[in-house]
Amino acid sequence: MKKNLIAGIACLSLSVTSGAPLAVLAQPIQISATDNGQTTLHPLSSDVAVIAHRGASAYGPEHTLAAYKQAMTMKADYVEFDIQMTKDGQLVAMHDETLARTTNAKELYPDRAPWRVKDFTLDEISRLDAGSWFNKAYPDKAKTQYIGQHVPTLEEAIEFVKQHGNGKVGLYMETKAPSVYPGMEEKLIEVLKKNNVLDDEKLFLESFSEESLRKLKNLVPQVKLVQLYTSKMLAGKDVYRELKRISDYAAGVGPSKELVVPKFMEAAHQNQLLVHPWTVNSQDDLVSLLSLGVDGEFTNNTDLLVDLLEKPFISHGVASGDVTDSSAILWARTNEAAKVQFEISTDSNFKHDTIVKTSRADVKHDYTVNVTVTGLKPDTTYFYRGHAISSNYTVNGSFKTAPEENSLKPITMVWGGDTGGQGEIPPFNSFNAMAAINPDFFLFSGDTIYADNKTPAVPNPPSVTVEDFWAKYKENRTDAGLRSLLQKTGTYAIWDDHEVINDFSGPSQPLTPTGLRAFKDYWPMSSERSTEDKLYHKYSWGNSMDMIILNNRGYRSPNTQNDGADKTMLGVEQLEWLKQQLLTSDAKVKLVATSVPISVPTGKAMARDGWANGNQVNSNDPTGYENEFKKISDFIIEKGIKNVFFVTTDVHFADIIKYDANQDGKTDYNELISGPIGAIKINPPTLDPTFGPERLYAEGNFNNFGVFRIDPSNKEATVEIRDENGKIHFSHSYQLEN
Ligand code: G3P
Ligand code: CA
Repeated sequence: MKKNLIAGIACLSLSVTSGAPLAVLAQPIQISATDNGQTTLHPLSSDVAVIAHRGASAYGPEHTLAAYKQAMTMKADYVEFDIQMTKDGQLVAMHDETLARTTNAKELYPDRAPWRVKDFTLDEISRLDAGSWFNKAYPDKAKTQYIGQHVPTLEEAIEFVKQHGNGKVGLYMETKAPSVYPGMEEKLIEVLKKNNVLDDEKLFLESFSEESLRKLKNLVPQVKLVQLYTSKMLAGKDVYRELKRISDYAAGVGPSKELVVPKFMEAAHQNQLLVHPWTVNSQDDLVSLLSLGVDGEFTNNTDLLVDLLEKPFISHGVASGDVTDSSAILWARTNEAAKVQFEISTDSNFKHDTIVKTSRADVKHDYTVNVTVTGLKPDTTYFYRGHAISSNYTVNGSFKTAPEENSLKPITMVWGGDTGGQGEIPPFNSFNAMAAINPDFFLFSGDTIYADNKTPAVPNPPSVTVEDFWAKYKENRTDAGLRSLLQKTGTYAIWDDHEVINDFSGPSQPLTPTGLRAFKDYWPMSSERSTEDKLYHKYSWGNSMDMIILNNRGYRSPNTQNDGADKTMLGVEQLEWLKQQLLTSDAKVKLVATSVPISVPTGKAMARDGWANGNQVNSNDPTGYENEFKKISDFIIEKGIKNVFFVTTDVHFADIIKYDANQDGKTDYNELISGPIGAIKINPPTLDPTFGPERLYAEGNFNNFGVFRIDPSNKEATVEIRDENGKIHFSHSYQLEN
């Protein structure tokens, strides 16, 4: 079966000489044209195994020849057998230790409760009907040929697969409850030998029991063994240590699917352990695990995984963003070159008024697409769905357009940042908590990746090649919570330093163009923002709010430069643009989306990264950008601009601050700081006093995000800081000034 995961393969890191066997892999091979050559978030080889879990058990009665046949017809790579042992020591293919659920044992042997396999002879078991239960349980899938299906012996099952599998279909067998059946391993080996499959390349033996696997290792060291894990088995263990430990007998691991996260993949692949999660049935789950780089999947839906592996598919979800009252940007990524189609409609069934847009996903953008949709109605919820042409895997999303210019509508937004840094590796809980708010949009306030931090995607930081940066975005997109938030609402993503490297200044950092290229590839980005790499732009949500997105990185003087008239963070043009936006805005709230704070001294002494120079920490620190911020502050005050909120993350604690820069007892502007979503957590330091800050709230050492609501009819704005479970830690309402 074609495995498209090798599509566009740029190079194998194998040294292949003529005639010599392929070199044994010391390192994972580069598995795709855009692989950065160091990530472990890809399969160890170019083949990803379709493992038919108990046969094609979504379509036929598990562990019957009918289900095995269906699996092979659907082109499974392996058929999985669970093994039990009868009273007379025969091995049969059966999942449960009792016959009650999947046979008519209760009817045939009513006084033999609890109908344990070990209490019945093979002859007694051979009289059972192991198929009719399926027709009763799944009438929509019922077939007459399932009636009377019997419980196969292991030997019969092996012969059946060998006969119908054309030598291509492998055997995957689990010693179920070996402690219940002493001698099971020896019997299993006897059957494998007798059927000449013991030395098959495509043979795996699996078990939850380490003891059983170690016994098999001693008896048949040549056979590939897979250690199965439930969540409970791994709870409290260091996954790196545990998987290294078992690598002395196992060739792979079979984790319950929720265990598979980037750290698990790195730990497994660092030890050359294949990862075969179970039991993966939905297309979303199958894809999500493929995006993490698993080596195969146990699935009841053989056909769904086969389809994914045979054609390009959307591999890291869809997203929408940079939404206006009449347009939106749609984003998707595929696993290889493909034509992507989006359908957009106000009808969630796409039955009418559907707009269709297509775009080509190609290697130079890591198979991402950014599609502009115009002609949309304001203040309207749109549904969209994307798929790679020829793939039957479709991903759904929705977004809301901004209200028309002169309307006053309530707004609910969520904002957060700092995702995947300082050893914090996805998944992160905050994304689900943010989605639960049902926001009108999500402001991702920077550090959407930590390109310069060690994670499975880039174990040797900092990110240098565009493939490194792409690997970081893909790593964070393996977080199902992030994908569901991005698929649920529109996103405005801004960049900060870790999209490139810590505390960088765009013009003087050689990595800037590469980091910026990956940032534009991986976020829905309007041409207004991407043109000339401006990234700054104003988005209006009716007259309730103007959101003024800044680019704090692209034009900044070096942090180490002494502050003064010629030092800038925004650049002259952007600074003037910001002042104009503030001056001309007739919106109730002017929200300035900045990626750095005003008075929290960030960066380090003598190289401050935010506006503050931290002179409360170091009285003669000549750095920072206070000279420029004073121009902004003075302008707001002189022009009497009301209801200005600077919104950011960046500092790794939550902080809600009001400013009276001219000390006249009136609040001049506000600052709302949330975070981190998933990065180091610290405690709030003292604030730099220059612009007259007064803290309403500050709290550190917890993951959190912010909610900002505007209720124009009551002339009120409300901010909440919520922890990663959505619990409110702080809430404050502002009476908006006219
Ligand atoms: O063998 C992998 C998986 O099948 C383990 O769970 O209960 O379905 O056998 P179970
Ligand atoms: Ca099993």
